[in-house]
Amino acid sequence: MNLLQGKTAVITGANRGIGKAIALMFASHGCNVAFTDLERNDAMIATESDIAQSGVKVKGYASNAAQVDSAQEVVKQIVEDFGSIDILVNNAGITKDNAMKRMTEEQWDAVINVNLKSVFAMTKAVQPYMWKQGSGSIINVSSVVGISGNVSQANYSASKAGIIGFTKSIAREFGVRNIRCNAVAPGFIMTDMTAQLPEHILEEWKTRIPLHRAGTVQDVANVCVFLASELSSYVTGQVIPICGGLQI
Ligand code: NAI
Repeated sequence: MNLLQGKTAVITGANRGIGKAIALMFASHGCNVAFTDLERNDAMIATESDIAQSGVKVKGYASNAAQVDSAQEVVKQIVEDFGSIDILVNNAGITKDNAMKRMTEEQWDAVINVNLKSVFAMTKAVQPYMWKQGSGSIINVSSVVGISGNVSQANYSASKAGIIGFTKSIAREFGVRNIRCNAVAPGFIMTDMTAQLPEHILEEWKTRIPLHRAGTVQDVANVCVFLASELSSYVTGQVIPICGGLQI
């Protein structure tokens, strides 16, 4: 079933990981994909060619999602290249974990900037286009720790909780133009980052998850397809945990 046939999505931070999986899954549903990441490198070129196999239009753009000027510029370019933007996925994110007593101002600022300011910058950039067309779906990638908090992740948890407040505000503000805004809150997802954890830590995590397994990037991408598509046409301002029941 092609749930996103002929639509155009913008996905930030999609050279790898969850963003790439969302891009590939959207493309498999007939969606044209414009994606960003910090650099136009081998990973970006590989992502472009992987997506192109679905027969959709695709282009990767080197752009820092956390910079307001860059966000404005890249969105303008994408509209020129693709014609319109129907879906925005604010996925770009980083961690700089540290205990509060050791956390530096730089670690705090970097995480808030990349994770939270990017959501502001990109949403602001697409707003005029979605507003004019009277439709759109914005999906923000939060985290279960934005709901529950986590040790040594005060900066990351604050940024992800901030995304939830932002999502609910935008849903209220943009609903009048049929623009929906929702957040996903992934739990423990197997990516390059989590694959490096020692086996005993992975096993301990799994025992705390009611479904007794880590999530996959496809688990996250599937929920994003739902939120991007008309299947969720009456859903806005919601936060959907994708965590095997860890957050109930
Ligand atoms: P990742 O580190 O594998 O991929 C993130 C991508 O974003 C990278 O390609 C990176 O270059 C890019 N990026 C970083 N800063 C950027 C910026 N300023 N502008 C544009 N691109 C930028 O991370 P992963 O695991 O795929 O995470 C994706 C999102 O999912 C993040 O927001 C993360 O916080 C969130 N998340 C991940 C979980 C996990 O278990 N992996 C759990 C919950 C949330």
